Amino acid sequence: MKDLIILVTGGAGFVGSEFVRRAIAGGARVITLDALTYAGDLSTLESVAENAAHRFVHGSINDRKLVATLLVEHKPQAIVNFAAESHVDRSIDGPGAFVETNITGVFELLEATRSYCENGAPDGFRFLQISTDEVYGSVSNGTSHEESLLAPNSPYAASKAAADHLVRSYCQTYGLPALITRSSNNFGPFQFPEKLIPLMILNALAFEPLPIYGDGEQVREWIHVTDNCAAIEAVLTRGTPGLIYNVGSGSGIPNIEITKQLCAVIDRLQPSPKPRASLITHVEDRLGHDRRYALDTKLITGTLDWSPDIAIEDGLEQTVAWYLENEDWWQTIRTKRYGGERLGLAAQTTG
Ligand SMILES: NC(=O)c1ccc[n+]([C@@H]2O[C@H](COP(=O)([O-])OP(=O)(O)OC[C@H]3O[C@@H](n4cnc5c(N)ncnc54)[C@H](O)[C@@H]3O)[C@@H](O)[C@H]2O)c1
Repeated sequence: MKDLIILVTGGAGFVGSEFVRRAIAGGARVITLDALTYAGDLSTLESVAENAAHRFVHGSINDRKLVATLLVEHKPQAIVNFAAESHVDRSIDGPGAFVETNITGVFELLEATRSYCENGAPDGFRFLQISTDEVYGSVSNGTSHEESLLAPNSPYAASKAAADHLVRSYCQTYGLPALITRSSNNFGPFQFPEKLIPLMILNALAFEPLPIYGDGEQVREWIHVTDNCAAIEAVLTRGTPGLIYNVGSGSGIPNIEITKQLCAVIDRLQPSPKPRASLITHVEDRLGHDRRYALDTKLITGTLDWSPDIAIEDGLEQTVAWYLENEDWWQTIRTKRYGGERLGLAAQTTG
């Protein structure tokens, strides 16, 4: 990414901030646009806050004028859109915000980008939309490939699928040089404490119940956020505009199993007479909960020389160690967002 100028939207969140840090380390200049919703926090970008190659702008992708101004001012060669409402449980409680950001926001961003392309965007300009494996819905057998039917089952997944259709249509209709990545569930540092893996780590450390939806047999293909961001870089710099790339690890693991693995890691790093797995508590299943996601990743592995590097066991161990070493970060987020209360049994996501 050396010398690229990139507008990263949603770059103060979990995956976006990893990408921003990576891009700057790789020699890019980055303008991060983020609305700093409950899920975004500038602390994720602290390590690049003083870096001359980084500029942070507080604002929304729904603000077409602001995006247009940033495009004219900085002349980026690429836009990578991470901005989204991303928590499946929140989409069940209040789908409106998901339509507003994930669909209308993407429409506004695409309109600003279309005008930029028609008015002198640099040669080789690219727009990369960050999507999810959840757009394919639950897969009982085999794997989803990029041309599989989209069958989203949650308002979150439906809003992301709608955005993918919009991006595709701007590519087909206006020739916008757009690409899409659809990744499986990410984990790693700086993940918001209400998502499954950090929630389980933090509850296990505090000897709080570990809430598992239903029977816990929902299978997710966990990928370390570093591997996903390497894939995003590969697609951004070497992918073919117009194409969609699935990004997965091939490690399909039931939620109950990943929770037990985390418990074993925590028991090893912080020994206790009470095994953390004994804290597992089954709670009522999520509405419309998908049983299994599984991706066919032949396109990206076969054409872009990308494959995941971090084995799940190593990634889990590193992630637990990171949360142990960065208590200030997650305690501050919890205090800001929840007044310091521990998250209740219902506050987990497997999305
Ligand atoms: N985390 C995963 O496991 C995963 C898996 C597949 C795909 N994705 C996709 O990757 C992207 C990032 O996911 P994440 O887990 O980092 O999410 P996140 O919730 O941690 O971060 C989202 C970021 O977007 C910002 N944002 C929200 N609305 C905005 C708006 N209108 N304008 C500008 N910024 C706005 C938030 O402030 C936050 O910083 C999302 O598009 C998500 O759908 C995530």
